[in-house]
Amino acid sequence: METKKEIEPVLEIKNLQKSFGDNHVLNGFNLQLFEGENLVVMGKSGSGKSVMIKCLVGLLQADSGSIRIRGKDITALGQIELDLLRTEIGFLFQGSALYDSMTVRENLEFPLRRHKDRLNMIEDTEALVIEALENVGLEDAIDLMPAELSGGMQRRVALARALILKPKIILYDEPTTGLDPITAKEIIQLMRSIQKKYGTSSLIITHDVDCARVISNRIILLVDGINYAEGTYQELSKSGDSQIKAFFKH
Ligand SMILES: Nc1ncnc2c1ncn2[C@@H]1O[C@H](COP(=O)(O)OP(=O)(O)O)[C@@H](O)[C@H]1O
Ligand SMILES: [Mg+2]
Repeated sequence: METKKEIEPVLEIKNLQKSFGDNHVLNGFNLQLFEGENLVVMGKSGSGKSVMIKCLVGLLQADSGSIRIRGKDITALGQIELDLLRTEIGFLFQGSALYDSMTVRENLEFPLRRHKDRLNMIEDTEALVIEALENVGLEDAIDLMPAELSGGMQRRVALARALILKPKIILYDEPTTGLDPITAKEIIQLMRSIQKKYGTSSLIITHDVDCARVISNRIILLVDGINYAEGTYQELSKSGDSQIKAFFKH
């Protein structure tokens, strides 16, 4: 019988460690994200979720451990290769992080310009900006400033910006935090429709139980810098473990 070939994850973190002085934030965290999957990482505030995602995109340097994206160890890549790999990853920052002094159009053009030399595709920036805004239902806001938008609209623009290079992998850091429940639901629906349309694989960091329930195929609970538990929403929400139960209390 032929041995089954192991499916390679699109993204893999092994034994990730990161401390700030005496603050040991990540103590051997592991994660595998598979093609087309919505993987949720839940953890309390300050548990290291953003630190983990920043290590993933190279905004922070891990102390040890390996991070592989599509089989490539990002710590072994040079700047040019790393930048090219980054074009395959969309990142929705915690709290939107739009540039206040730029219009919506300029905010969306930013990643296009940044990667212009490395991509041969950018003939028509405007068409890409409009397509990205249409995906989030905001084409009319193209010439507005971030300050003229509601919090929910800002989050949509940030999402459009994360999508503009049509990434295969999207990282979401607290996509619903700070939004009212109705707007949060709209953002979750958008995330789902984007995943359907582009077949992306998503890593979603959240402490929003509703978000986790609706969107996750699988959940990892980050406690004390490690994977405390892992399973589907159904499995974890039934757990008798007090630390796990604490996440699913409304
Ligand atoms: N650049 C930094 N320098 C020092 N400490 C940091 C830095 N970034 C995060 N931390 C600390 O790491 C811990 C985890 O932070 P973070 O990942 O932002 O938590 P969260 O799970 O809420 O996203 C916190 O104790 C925070 O103070
Ligand atoms: Mg955070």
